Amino acid sequence: MEHILNVWLLGTFFILVTAQERHGCVLSELGPNIEATEYRTIFRPGQELALSCKLGYTSILGPRTIVCTDDGEWTETKFKCIAKRCPNPDPLSNGDLYYEDTVYQSTINYTCHEGYTLSGPKNAKCQADGTWSTTVPECKPVSCGLAPIPKFGLISFNKKISGNATYFGTHGTYKCLPPYVLFGNAHAECTASGNWTKTPECRVVTCPPPENIFNGYMSSNDQRRYNFMETVQYGCNGDYMLQGSFQISCQKNGDWSEKPACKAPCRIDIGRGRILYKEKKLWIGDLDPNKVFHNDIVSVYCLDKVRNCGYAVSTQCIDGNLKIPECFKEPSGIEYTFHSGSLPSEIEQC
Ligand SMILES: *[C@@H]1O[C@H](CO)[C@@H](O)[C@H](O)[C@H]1NC(C)=O
Ligand SMILES: *[C@@H]1O[C@H](CO)[C@@H](O)[C@H](O)[C@H]1NC(C)=O
Ligand SMILES: *[C@@H]1O[C@H](CO)[C@@H](O)[C@H](O)[C@H]1NC(C)=O
Repeated sequence: MEHILNVWLLGTFFILVTAQERHGCVLSELGPNIEATEYRTIFRPGQELALSCKLGYTSILGPRTIVCTDDGEWTETKFKCIAKRCPNPDPLSNGDLYYEDTVYQSTINYTCHEGYTLSGPKNAKCQADGTWSTTVPECKPVSCGLAPIPKFGLISFNKKISGNATYFGTHGTYKCLPPYVLFGNAHAECTASGNWTKTPECRVVTCPPPENIFNGYMSSNDQRRYNFMETVQYGCNGDYMLQGSFQISCQKNGDWSEKPACKAPCRIDIGRGRILYKEKKLWIGDLDPNKVFHNDIVSVYCLDKVRNCGYAVSTQCIDGNLKIPECFKEPSGIEYTFHSGSLPSEIEQC
């Protein structure tokens, strides 16, 4: 019995509500970011409702007021609320801005480039009033202090330094006072970590007294130590030929650069015959004195017995040695004196 009564009561309530609804308007979904100025469940026909925007939003279109009609519907409106926009942010020198939008509640993140540190807020938020929450920060260069200077050295900077401070991007060049020699990197730079690159050293470099070369002479015979970059020249005696650089210099490692050598001339070891030397065909007796120089090329003539013709074969003077090609046959004295026209150098050439 009690159960049945409950059901009956609930049913009556339901009918009452729907009956009232038929005579009024319900405050339902208004649209994004729109607010009603009044909160009631039921509005009677003829009642008005003013619309407004939530904080941070601004209205467009209209009308701003809707009215409940006799058939329980609200009048039409195009009223909309859109997010307020903050001004476009200023760029950050030596840094970057990260943001996706500039509307209400957007965030800008600020970062600085390598070698710069952020001075000021890390980010800004677009506020309900359409302004940014913070001002643009600054990216300040990392400071290094003065560059260390090696003993007996100096540094020159790429820009004027005032006071004690140097900043990221400042660089300089180290030099050593002569006769000191720089070891390490001559280039100095204030790094992004706030320290200077490694300082080089200035050291004394000397070389021992230079040694003479065989069959040659030196420009200086001083038995002293020589400084870095000092030079000594060499020459060869008589017909010796200098091979290599005529000058040596004292190097950074305390050694001399490579010495040249004097190479001996050669004697052409044939008694009778004709040779080709410097594009000239000569009887050996006419080469007076019998001497060619290191590296010179000389040809002798050989006989091709099968075809009965002569041909030149070349050989080179190497430091006093000139090898006569094996095909060369020295003629006898009689042959040479009376039948010289039949020698390989004189007959038809192959
Ligand atoms: C800004 O930084 C925050 C925190 O690091 C991060 O969650 C957000 O995604 C960043 N926003 C942008 C636009 O990069
Ligand atoms: C250099 O720095 C020191 C301490 O860091 C300071 O006492 C001095 O006044 C500075 N000198 C100049 C010329 O700025
Ligand atoms: C400079 O500082 C960085 C980071 O602290 C370090 O790794 C580097 O070795 C330093 N360089 C010199 C030349 O001291």
